[in-house]
Amino acid sequence: MPGMDGLELQRKLCEVDPEITVVIMTGHASVETAVQALKDGAYDYLTKPFDPDDLAHLVRKALDCRGVRRESVQLWENLAEARAVEVVGQSPGMRKVLELVRAVAPTDTTVLIRGESGTGKELVARAIHHLSPRRFMPIVSLHCGALTETLLESELFGHEKGALPGAQYRKKGKFEVAEGGTVFLDEISDISPKTQADLLRVLQEREVQRLGGIQTIKVDFRAVAATDKDLEALVKQGTFRPDLFYRLNVFTIKIPPLRERKVDIPLLVNHFIHKHARGVNKRISSVSRAAMDLLMNYRWPGNVRELENVLEHAMVLGHEPEIQVSDFPLHITAPGPAEAASLEEVERAHILHVLETCDWNQTRAAKVLKIDRVTLYNKIKKYGFRKGSRAAS
Ligand SMILES: Nc1ncnc2c1ncn2[C@@H]1O[C@H](COP(=O)(O)OP(=O)(O)OP(=O)(O)O)[C@@H](O)[C@H]1O
Ligand SMILES: [Mg+2]
Repeated sequence: MPGMDGLELQRKLCEVDPEITVVIMTGHASVETAVQALKDGAYDYLTKPFDPDDLAHLVRKALDCRGVRRESVQLWENLAEARAVEVVGQSPGMRKVLELVRAVAPTDTTVLIRGESGTGKELVARAIHHLSPRRFMPIVSLHCGALTETLLESELFGHEKGALPGAQYRKKGKFEVAEGGTVFLDEISDISPKTQADLLRVLQEREVQRLGGIQTIKVDFRAVAATDKDLEALVKQGTFRPDLFYRLNVFTIKIPPLRERKVDIPLLVNHFIHKHARGVNKRISSVSRAAMDLLMNYRWPGNVRELENVLEHAMVLGHEPEIQVSDFPLHITAPGPAEAASLEEVERAHILHVLETCDWNQTRAAKVLKIDRVTLYNKIKKYGFRKGSRAAS
């Protein structure tokens, strides 16, 4: 070979593509060359002259080996993805959510996820996809609220060249891109009557027509939609098509707001501290007792997303090993009237706290609280407290 020898070529090729599979054919059966080639990462070598069958066999083996390697890379990536879609929660409300997720995931049923802003609707949509047989295909999500009618339609259904201003090329829509996978339609309430009609057709017929196109294209997808709006009210008002509502509302998962499942707060705190520890580069592993009380008593109007943001903020300001009350943003430590806890919530948390410190000895706890034992007994019943558990809200 003019210019460079086989070994040098191999090294150059590996620089261009480290994944490349190299088989060396050598004219002179020099053991040193062969050994060096293998050391440099060659898959195998052949000595000339060789039998073409041997070469074919070797190539087949090399391809198999590469397939296995790629598969294992893919598996690791999926595993990392699966960790990223871990849905944390032990409250009765979240157990129910997870039970529904597990039941519906293996099917092709359309799922409607409902819940206030920041409750984890997108996370649950991803969990459904990752527990479904479609998990090796893409999940494609689209925020329906952020776009004008034409742009949304072109995102959903695609467009042909020249179909709209600036459309220089043909573009596939989300349904086509998701082929074999899942389409996640976020903020589904915010779409125009025309798009609602078009979407309903796609959901029923399982085929799309690109904007400016005449051909209908078969699409294979699973639909998951989400909303934080009262769709029934929108149907009554006439802004949301009832037939689309029924088509989406086949299987509904309602995620409760965080203030109704405060037992999940300690688990989520732990989860987010570990999630962000690397990013802030600090060995913070917990929050102080007083800080946890604060988090338990706040109302969380922004739900889990707000909790995650508040913790990240505190981790940036805080010191190892524990987050303190002073690390939290002001609106948490001194909430305004809208976010302030109700008297009942404060009472509930305080009684629970005292019971825990008194080891659930009710006589002692009543003394600390300066109330009689019957009153304490009635409060325990009212709030559903049980020893050993931070009882459900
Ligand atoms: N149960 C949970 N376990 C772990 N992480 C969660 C959980 N719920 C929410 N999160 C995290 O909180 C953040 C917000 O969740 P997500 O984006 O899914 O909420 P959303 O309901 O789609 O919010 P929005 O209505 O504002 O779009 C994400 O980072 C998500 O990973
Ligand atoms: Mg969302």
